Amino acid sequence: MKQTAALLMTLALTTSAWAADGLPSTDNRVAIPVSAKERENTLYEMRTLLHGLFNIHTALSRNDMKGVAVAARSMSPLISRIPPSVRDRLPTEFMEMGNALKETWETIARDAEQKQNAPHTQAQLAEVMAYCSGCHDSFQFKVVSGKSRNKR
Ligand code: HEC
Repeated sequence: MKQTAALLMTLALTTSAWAADGLPSTDNRVAIPVSAKERENTLYEMRTLLHGLFNIHTALSRNDMKGVAVAARSMSPLISRIPPSVRDRLPTEFMEMGNALKETWETIARDAEQKQNAPHTQAQLAEVMAYCSGCHDSFQFKVVSGKSRNKR
């Protein structure tokens, strides 16, 4: 799974067009067609992920491993909340990374309770970040009209 994220990151970096200022001039990430509502719902879940990471880091900085477990466990269902209508349109790699992320939250929660080892949790959070950035490097949501949404 780690390899999938690394591969996608490399893919995204090599397919970007670069302007003279050294920054990319076009967004060449794979576009996932969505309605405005679907995009907003999914971005809302994404922001929830960011809040969750904040909660985990805060708990970890206080060595509150129970707090880490509670925060990590609450993130696990997020990917399952993507509506089936959207899920049908998601590329396999997107779902694989989403599911790997879900499994990692559950492992983080379980290990925080059983091992109570902060450096171990930090390493698992680094793995989480590989999924976040791997997927962001590879995909974008694009709002399109109903007809073109259904084409794959
Ligand atoms: C399986 C793919 C995937 C994973 C994994 C993923 N994201 Fe996202 N995320 C996206 C996509 C696609 C967008 C929309 C990008 C765009 O259209 O520009 C996005 C957007 C976001 C945004 C912007 C929200 C907004 O309001 O604009 C945040 C914040 C975010 N993600 C946080 C996270 C965090 C934190 C993680 C890891 C814990 C994560 N995401 C994991 C796919 C993913």
